[in-house]
Amino acid sequence: MKNRNKLILVLFIGFVGLQFFRPEKIDHGTKAQNLTNVPKEVNAILRSSCFDCHSSETNLRWYDKITPANFLVTSHIKEARGVLNFSKWDSWPKAQQNSTIYYAINKVLSGEMPLPSYAAVHSSAKLSQEQIQTLKNYALSIAPRKVSDDSQIKEAEKQYNSWVNGELKKPHVKDAPNGIHYFPDYRNWKAISTTDRFDNGTMRIIFGNDIAVKAIQEHKVNPWPDGAVFAKTVWKQQMETNGNISSGEFLAVEFMIKDAEKYSKTKGWGWARWKGSDLKPYGGDIPNFEQECIECHTPVADRDYVFTPPLYLISQLKKINAK
Ligand code: HEC
Ligand code: HEC
Repeated sequence: MKNRNKLILVLFIGFVGLQFFRPEKIDHGTKAQNLTNVPKEVNAILRSSCFDCHSSETNLRWYDKITPANFLVTSHIKEARGVLNFSKWDSWPKAQQNSTIYYAINKVLSGEMPLPSYAAVHSSAKLSQEQIQTLKNYALSIAPRKVSDDSQIKEAEKQYNSWVNGELKKPHVKDAPNGIHYFPDYRNWKAISTTDRFDNGTMRIIFGNDIAVKAIQEHKVNPWPDGAVFAKTVWKQQMETNGNISSGEFLAVEFMIKDAEKYSKTKGWGWARWKGSDLKPYGGDIPNFEQECIECHTPVADRDYVFTPPLYLISQLKKINAK
């Protein structure tokens, strides 16, 4: 036998031998139902592009079943189901369904999902511009964005002014049920991001204290240093007849306080929320209310549970890119 053929034979035997090594079995077969109350065309897109990894039903092609590809596919599926499993849709409250759709569509718009390495091989998972538009239209259709009446707008303006002037800075705000104190001065922190949650008709501003801002400047954000604190304010959106969107009623402010040791039981963060302009502590009658926060922040566990990507100054980006 010529040497080259020998090599091919050896490789082939090796490849066949490899097939005896299989990744651990995961459930592929449980049929995933369509998402309740979601239009057919949106279900069809999610099914063809996302369900393979993000539901109990996977549709493996023959080339996905060959070792070593199957190890990669199995680990993707396990990881993907861990962060988002559409088969659990019916068990989620409406607000979580809407926020999941919103977050999922953002991942598509940013090009992160479906995983590019997967879409390259599985052309049916790739999304067309038309399909992306269908997803966007759906997200907009579930947004409760209605024109507000004049008195609502005036009332919100009054409230906003008193927030700016510090009148909402109550002298005696009650502690959160887990003992966390309110931070009256967060309005003076740096705003590090804003988000427009069209899925539930709110807008948010996220502030960071000095330690958080310094960590951003020094590019030391994963994990965040002890002492970093984020505040997120949530306002209702209101729409004027000319289509302008502005902040309406003040709904809540919530905090994440980093202290790896003190808060080791809650992923290294202290969690607290105060609701309404009377700043009522949230969670009093909910046992371990922090679990609610943690559960929803789990998709970003690998970013130390923080959603907001820090914005960098152009000068910093140049330095990072030059490395
Ligand atoms: C090949 C498997 C695969 C496919 C197909 C896929 N995903 Fe993912 N997805 C993953 C994996 C793995 C993760 C976790 C790791 C990560 O965030 O990169 C993930 C994470 C996510 C997250 C959480 C992201 C984060 O940063 O926390 C969302 C939301 C998501 N996917 C949405 C989608 C949507 C919507 C689709 C369909 C358009 C889709 N995915 C298709 C594998 C997949
Ligand atoms: C329904 C899902 C959900 C729940 C429940 C939730 N969060 Fe968040 N949280 C988010 C999302 C999404 C963001 C990103 C900013 C945005 O879009 O509003 C965020 C951002 C934040 C931020 C700004 C820092 C960051 O991660 O970007 C703080 C602070 C915060 N949440 C605190 C809390 C606290 C405290 C609770 C529980 C009382 C809580 N969250 C519960 C989804 C959730």
